[in-house]
Amino acid sequence: MKTLIANWKMNVGIRESVALARGTLLTLRGRKLIPELVICPSFIALSEVRKIVARSSVSLGAQNVFWEPSGAYTGETSTRMLQEVGVSYVILGHSERRQELGETDEMIHKKVLHVLSEQMTPIVCIGESKQQHEAGQTQEVIRTQLISALSQVYLRGSERVLIAYEPLWAIGSGVVASVGEVIEVHQFIRSLLQELFAGVSSQQIPLLYGGSVDGENAYGFLREELIDGLLVGGASVKINQFKDIVEACGEVLEAQGI
Ligand code: PGA
Repeated sequence: MKTLIANWKMNVGIRESVALARGTLLTLRGRKLIPELVICPSFIALSEVRKIVARSSVSLGAQNVFWEPSGAYTGETSTRMLQEVGVSYVILGHSERRQELGETDEMIHKKVLHVLSEQMTPIVCIGESKQQHEAGQTQEVIRTQLISALSQVYLRGSERVLIAYEPLWAIGSGVVASVGEVIEVHQFIRSLLQELFAGVSSQQIPLLYGGSVDGENAYGFLREELIDGLLVGGASVKINQFKDIVEACGEVLEAQGI
């Protein structure tokens, strides 16, 4: 299985989101093998986008959520509210929220636990800054972020957590990490996960890559067994680019006969 997450960020309003959802559905038309595909519009577009993707294989994701079920938390959105509009996945700990809004490892941890307790699937983003990368601190940063996000997490039954390795220097920069670099980090994350959750499978905790993925470089990542999917930002709101990514995914799935 391969997973594609489309993170539309704060880039499209309601009308554009509806059009984009229609376009995204069309990219799947006529394909025998399709990836697990999750689209993450802004909160205000979720209800309308739901109408488009209902009865399709495409799932809805949110770009954030609060860690309490309800209460006096002005401006926040709860898991229940998201479930009302059909959301089953939530992106957590995106670096833009860590950097611009001061989200800490502790806040992200609370969100992960809450999302899982509400039978939703967290997509946890982790990654090092350019400075940390250059200082050779990638593994240290990943280790801290991962251990914090997943502490006290016990996956039962079909519960899953998706991990997206997104080096900050690659996000929205056009500077994509090399396949070799991503594989090295994924190997490190996989071995850490074995320590944290003995015997956990890549089905339960798939590892994705994100950062300047586009129609041209997607295939190189997706064909690697250690890369279970991609988290796509900029290219997910350009339908021709996204179509190429879905196509690359289809080719890989066919080659693997999955
Ligand atoms: P990008 O964003 O594909 O535009 O680099 C990825 C992300 O931030 O999730």
